[in-house]
Amino acid sequence: MPTDTLRNWSNTGLARRLGAPRIPVLRRYEPGQPLLDGPALVAAVGAGRFVTPITALIEEEGAPVVTEPGEDKLAAVVVDLTEITTLADLAAAQRILTPAVRKLAPSGRLLLLGPVSGDSRHSDYRHSQGAEGAAVAQALDGLVRSIGKELRAGATANLLIVDPDAAPATVDSSVRFFLSARSAYVDGQVVHLGVPAGEPVDPAGMDDPIDPVRPLAGRIAVVTGAARGIGAAIADTLARDGATIVAVDVPAAGEGLAAVANRTGGTALQLDITAPDAASRLTGFLQERHGRVDLVVHNAGITRDKLLANMDDERWNSVLGVNLGAQLTINEALLAAPDLLGPDARIVCVSSQSGIAGNRGQTNYAASKAGIIGMVRALAPRFAEHGATINAVAPGFIETEMTAKMPVGTREAGRRVNSLRQGGLPVDVAETIGWLGQASSGAVNGQVVRVCGQSILGA
Ligand SMILES: NC(=O)c1ccc[n+]([C@@H]2O[C@H](COP(=O)([O-])OP(=O)(O)OC[C@H]3O[C@@H](n4cnc5c(N)ncnc54)[C@H](O)[C@@H]3O)[C@@H](O)[C@H]2O)c1
Repeated sequence: MPTDTLRNWSNTGLARRLGAPRIPVLRRYEPGQPLLDGPALVAAVGAGRFVTPITALIEEEGAPVVTEPGEDKLAAVVVDLTEITTLADLAAAQRILTPAVRKLAPSGRLLLLGPVSGDSRHSDYRHSQGAEGAAVAQALDGLVRSIGKELRAGATANLLIVDPDAAPATVDSSVRFFLSARSAYVDGQVVHLGVPAGEPVDPAGMDDPIDPVRPLAGRIAVVTGAARGIGAAIADTLARDGATIVAVDVPAAGEGLAAVANRTGGTALQLDITAPDAASRLTGFLQERHGRVDLVVHNAGITRDKLLANMDDERWNSVLGVNLGAQLTINEALLAAPDLLGPDARIVCVSSQSGIAGNRGQTNYAASKAGIIGMVRALAPRFAEHGATINAVAPGFIETEMTAKMPVGTREAGRRVNSLRQGGLPVDVAETIGWLGQASSGAVNGQVVRVCGQSILGA
């Protein structure tokens, strides 16, 4: 793993004496760690239907909840703004947030819950919301992204847009993720929470409590490209959280693949995902071994960089084939075998910041990664018919062997152009996938979550 020398130096006594800007050491999740290491402020504008369940969730996890900032630093600030409809409501939100952010602790969490702005699926809702309602709902988008850029010391700001019909319990797994150290490198994100497909959630939301230590217990998870890099971190993290791993990679990566399978107590499947029979071999293996699959992580990916002017067909086709074509084929095979999908199946596709911002020399790669986003949006309603979801994560600058080989100037620039002023770690991508992979994350569907520390590229 490459070393971030500048960050390490910025935290030394000498750097402190010289007054050098500090690059924060982020609080990351470790088993046994409390959800929050200090008090949380939970507030609302209006009645705030999420205040009571979120307060209960935080208190159950052992952290005190306050309604106004006091002397102590706040580990989290959660504000339910789902009922705001006027500029006066927005001003009330600012009056809550201004004193609260002053008290936010290092690696603190600011989480807003907001209403849908002008939801085209709900014409009644759009009509009743009016222009001012839609405006203030959308205003939260700019607000939260700006707060993310203002916060320091590893604190993050994110926004959950909650469907008006969503039951309070449907926000649970997402609130936990965004408050916890698992979301260390997820910043400035806006995620829509809808009404989960499949079985209706118990309105009290207490019939299926999440085990916060092993939220993936009993789930069968496939990870492609699992032999090394981010894929190996995904396999390790999902296994830590209780999943049974089926690790997939090309035969040439067999040694690394076997190591991951052994380490996680899972199985190794040597498979080139672009082979004509890859989808049937994968579904056949799952059927035979486990009789079902609960989580499929499409992580395998390649780069073959070249300026478009010099692009040859081989570079284009291999990148589009591995990164996008194989995912399309496997997803269609899963949809064609709905009995194989567990009752709360989750598909998570690894996209990239390049697919959002574009990148010089990566027309093939960026096209494939943007294509993943289009695929996820198109397939979300189809997977929902089976009680399943499909989402994408889009990593930004992640510290891997690949980024270690970059020229030092390019690497330094890549690391610093985000609100947290450092690169992410493979585990940050893995933790985000772990959240999306939970049975209780059914409210998140068709979304793209960036794991980029709020990179300014493509924002
Ligand atoms: N590293 C980053 O900073 C970064 C940033 C954004 C997105 N990503 C994406 O994250 C994913 C993992 O990236 P990484 O840096 O760990 O890459 P990596 O090259 O270290 O690992 C990719 C794995 O995929 C496997 N693979 C390649 N072709 C395959 C095929 N046809 N069938 C089965 N397996 C195959 C490789 O053997 C390898 O083990 C990729 O989709 C990549 O595009 C990475």
